[in-house]
Amino acid sequence: MTTPRTKILVTGGAGYIGSHAVVELYQAGYQPVIVDNFSNSQESALAGIESILGTTVPIYRIDCADEAALRGVFAAEPNIAGVIHFAAFKAVGESVQKPLAYFKNNVGSMLALLAVMPEFGVENLVFSSSCTVYGIPDALPVTEATPTKPASSPYGRTKQMCEDIVHDVAAAPDNKLRTILLRYFNPIGAHESAKIGELPLGVPNNLVPFITQTAAGIREKLTINGSDYDTPDGTNIRDYIHVVDLAKSHVVAVQRLLDHKATDTVETFNVGTGHGNSVLEVVKTFEQVTGQKLNYSIGPRRPGDVPAIYADATKAAEVLGFRTETSLADSLASAWKWQQTLAK
Ligand code: UD1
Repeated sequence: MTTPRTKILVTGGAGYIGSHAVVELYQAGYQPVIVDNFSNSQESALAGIESILGTTVPIYRIDCADEAALRGVFAAEPNIAGVIHFAAFKAVGESVQKPLAYFKNNVGSMLALLAVMPEFGVENLVFSSSCTVYGIPDALPVTEATPTKPASSPYGRTKQMCEDIVHDVAAAPDNKLRTILLRYFNPIGAHESAKIGELPLGVPNNLVPFITQTAAGIREKLTINGSDYDTPDGTNIRDYIHVVDLAKSHVVAVQRLLDHKATDTVETFNVGTGHGNSVLEVVKTFEQVTGQKLNYSIGPRRPGDVPAIYADATKAAEVLGFRTETSLADSLASAWKWQQTLAK
């Protein structure tokens, strides 16, 4: 008789990072169970996941902020060992336009999860946080001990609030919850199979999908948001991490919780490469690796942009044994391969 796979609930499991995490979890021997309401994801992600894995994955089409519906999922899926909580809105600009929608969805889904998990004795949580919690850092690279700063958008504030909520819940006397907060830097690229990847709806906000859509002729040109920053080439610096590397960090985080290796009720890790690249470096690397000439020009600064941020990735390496494996060039090549697949 084969041992049943350890069940991990993945909220937002049909989304960009969630879908890659579902694949990595299954390939590491876990049984992912997806919760997604497809508000910012597509059914085609499920077909991609199933094609890569050669098996179906249970999916519950519910809103994670709907506590009663979430309770129904936990009741239908006994023995969930842990939860990875991705489900959230993530567009910085949109969050300024619709702040209430962001608080309702991002904070609401966290509250619903934290209410329902203990009812079913589920004690392990991995949460998708963001480097946005550091604001404009005073020194680089940022470590987990770098103080957080006021968020520059409602989106960023939802990530800070969710971190705060988790800390308060963990400090309660009867707490049994153990959480790993993963602070992502900038995820890019797609699965090597090009069966799953980012599916931006409408005009992309993020750099790499805008680059690939421009190269594919869907957008006329890329506008670089400012070249007068205090950085070597004047453009913003970010830490671009391949989405499959990022997905793998969730597998090691879950494993750490299930092995009872966490040394605190809440542990925080940066998940980045540890290297910063400027917007111009990303553009040039994309051109080199794909042979595509990119139509771009320099535009004004984008409000809310941090001049430069990249991770100190030491803690994740030393404590989780997590290191990224994919270069910027390979990450951009995978993004381009995915774009070409989408065009077909
Ligand atoms: C932002 C958030 C981050 C969030 C991510 C998800 C902040 C500070 N950062 O990352 O927390 O996880 O969105 O959506 O809130 N750029 C251009 N032209 C473009 C698009 C982007 O020059 O058309 C530049 C940006 O100005 C920036 C860099 O490319 O310097 C990366 O931008 P983007 O991909 O949007 O990510 P962040 O803003 O870093």
